[in-house]
Amino acid sequence: MTRWTCHRMLGLAGATLLAAAAAAAQAQLRVASPDGRNRVAVEIKEGRAYYDLQRDGRAVLLPSGLGFAFQGARPLHEGLEVTDTSRNTVDETWTQPWGEVARVRDRHNELKVTLRETAAPARQLAVVFRLFNDGVGFRYELPEQANLGEFAITEELTEFVLADDARAWWIPANRPKLDRYEFLYSSSPVSRLDTVHTPLTLEARDGLHVVIHEANLVDYPGMNVAGSLESRTLRAALAPHADGIKARGRTPFVTPWRTIQLADRAVDLAPSVLGLNLNPPSVLENTSWIKPMKYVGIWWGMHIGTMTWSSGPRHGATTQHARRYIDFAAANGFGGVLIEGWNLGWDGNWLENGDKFSFTQAYPDYDLKAVAAYARERGVKLIGHNETAGGIENYERQLEDAFALYQSLGIDAVKTGYVVDRTPEGHSHHSQYMVRHYRKVIEAAARHRIMVDVHEPIKDTGERRTYPNRMSREGARGQEYSAWGGEGGNPPEHETILFFTRLLAGPMDFTPGIFDILIERGTGRPRRPDEPRVRTTLAKQLALYLVLYSPVQMAADLPESYQNQPAFQFIRDVPVDWDTTRVLRGKIGDYVVVARRERDGQSWYLGAITDEEGRTFDIPLSFLSAGRRYLAEIYADGPGAHWLTNPLPVAITRRPVTAASRLRLVLAPGGGQAIRIRPAQ
Ligand code: NOJ
Ligand code: CA
Repeated sequence: MTRWTCHRMLGLAGATLLAAAAAAAQAQLRVASPDGRNRVAVEIKEGRAYYDLQRDGRAVLLPSGLGFAFQGARPLHEGLEVTDTSRNTVDETWTQPWGEVARVRDRHNELKVTLRETAAPARQLAVVFRLFNDGVGFRYELPEQANLGEFAITEELTEFVLADDARAWWIPANRPKLDRYEFLYSSSPVSRLDTVHTPLTLEARDGLHVVIHEANLVDYPGMNVAGSLESRTLRAALAPHADGIKARGRTPFVTPWRTIQLADRAVDLAPSVLGLNLNPPSVLENTSWIKPMKYVGIWWGMHIGTMTWSSGPRHGATTQHARRYIDFAAANGFGGVLIEGWNLGWDGNWLENGDKFSFTQAYPDYDLKAVAAYARERGVKLIGHNETAGGIENYERQLEDAFALYQSLGIDAVKTGYVVDRTPEGHSHHSQYMVRHYRKVIEAAARHRIMVDVHEPIKDTGERRTYPNRMSREGARGQEYSAWGGEGGNPPEHETILFFTRLLAGPMDFTPGIFDILIERGTGRPRRPDEPRVRTTLAKQLALYLVLYSPVQMAADLPESYQNQPAFQFIRDVPVDWDTTRVLRGKIGDYVVVARRERDGQSWYLGAITDEEGRTFDIPLSFLSAGRRYLAEIYADGPGAHWLTNPLPVAITRRPVTAASRLRLVLAPGGGQAIRIRPAQ
C-alpha cells in the first residue's frame, strides 16, 4: 500500500463516519406517529430552527420557522444549536364526563428538542412535538434561565408553510374595528389568505384535509394565522393587548399547542379529539353536578323584536313569562330555562352598558327568588344570564357575589356574553387579557358548581377536558343571525361548513329548533325572502340537533311555535350526550350525514343536512347491533319542501329496521332529515 492510497482510504472511512454521525443526528430529530404515517423532522439551517411535516412520505408542511420576537431583547430564532433531545410514548384511553364520544384514546409519540443560542445571551427554548395518527401538536417551552426571565412577546415566529396551495375555509380575523368571528365562511386557496381565524380547514391535493388550530390556551393570546399574498406560508398572528404586546410572561413558560389535524377524507375530521388529548385531565374531582341538558328560554322574542331585554311594556324577563317558560320546560322534559334581560343594565343602548350591568339585581317585574323557587318546585333549572358587553372589570368585580347568589338559588348554569370587538381598555377580544378573563370565570364557576355556556367566547381549545363545567360556546354565526343578520340570515350552506370548521374546535351553542321559519308568529307578518329569516326547511332544524353537537341544546323558538307540531316530538326525544359518533357522508359546504349512539343506551340518531341543493343518500345501517330489531322514526322533508318557497312540510314515518337495512334519505333543497332508531320493544 502506498502512502497515498493509505491516506485516501482513511479519508473515505472518515467521511463515512462523519456521514453516519450526521444521519444519526438527523434521525434524532425525527418523530413519527404510532401508525408511521405522519412524520415531523426538525432541522437547523444556518442557525435557524425549522420543522417539517410529511404524511405517507409526502410533504404536508415544508420547512417552517420557529421562534419568538421580544420587546427590548433580540429575537430568539437565530444562532441556534440543538443541545438535547428526549422522547416519550403514550397509549392510554380516558373517559369523558360528557361528549360526542364517551372514550378517547391518547396514543402518541413525543419528541422534545432543546435549543440554545450559540452566542450570548445563550438563551434556551425547547419545542415539544406529539405525533398522533390524527395529527400533530407542538408547543414551545421557555425554561427558567438567567438571561430570560420576564418577557413581552411582540410576535410568535411560528410558520406553517403549506406544500400545497390547498383550498382554505376561512373567516377573517384581526380586522381593524371588526375583531370578531361571527362571519360567513369563504373559501379560497392558501395563497390568497389574509389574516384568518382557526380552526382553519384546508383541502389539499388527493383529498387530504388539514386543520390548523391550537390546544390548551390558558395564559397566552389566541392565535390567528396570516397569509402573505402569492405565498403558501401562513404565520402565527397573535391577538394583541391594548399596547400592542402579544403575550406577557416569565420563565418557566409553555405556550399552547399548535395543532395540525390530518384526515384522508372530510368525514374523518370529526369527531376531533386531537385538541382534547393535548389538554390536561380534569381538575374537578367531583363532576356529578355537571349535566348536559336541553333548554328553552326567554330569548328568541328579543331577537325577532317581540320582546325586549330592557324594561318597558315588552320586557321579556317578567315573573309571569318566566313561570310560563318553566311550565313549558317541565311539561316537555327540558332541563333548563334561560332568562335573558332579568338584571338591571339593559336600558338605553346595552352594547355600551359594559360598566352598568348588575349581575345580582333584578328588574322590579322579575322576582328572582320566587322564579328560582318555582323552577325548583317544577324540577327545572334556571339558567342565569350575564351579558358583559365587554365590561370585564365590572363583571370581575361582581363575579364572586353573583355566582354565590346563583348557587344559593340553585341556578347551576350560566350563559355569559361578550358582545364587543375590543374591551373599553382596547384589548383585542382574543387577547391574553381576555383569555385570562375567561379562565377566571370558569374557575369561579367551578368553585360554585356552575356550568357555563359562553357567547362571544374565546375560541374552544379543548378546555372542557380540564374544566368539564365549560359546556358549550357560540363563537360563530349562530341561529340569531337568521333573525336580524346581514345577508338575509345564515344561507343554506352555512351549517354544512360549520360542521367541518368551527365544530372541530368543540361544541357550539347554535340554538337550533326554529319552527316558525318565516318568523311570522308574534310579529304578525311573514318575512319576505330578502329579509333576514331562517334559510332551512323545518326538517333541517331537527337534523341540526345531531349535526351541530352541543351538550346544551336549546329549543330556540317561542313555546307557542311548538304547539300542535308533531315534529316537536323529535326535539323532546333527542339526547344531548353521546357514546359514539360516526360521520357517514360529508363534503364541506355541501352536506353532512352523521349517526350518533346515545350515552348509556342503545338508540341511534341520524342527522342529515344539505346546502341549497336537494340530495339523496343511500345509508346502510350497518352501525346497528347485528341481530337486533329496531324501529326507525323518520322526520323527512315533506312533499314539495324547499328552504325558500316551502320550508314547513315534514313527513313523519315509522319503519322497522335492522343492521342489514338501508335507508334512502331524500333531502329537499336547503333541507334535512332526522331519524331516531330505537330498539323495538
Ligand atoms: C349575543 C348572544 O349571542 C345572544 O344569544 C344574546 O341573546 C345576546 N348577545 C344578548 O346577550
Ligand atoms: Ca353572538
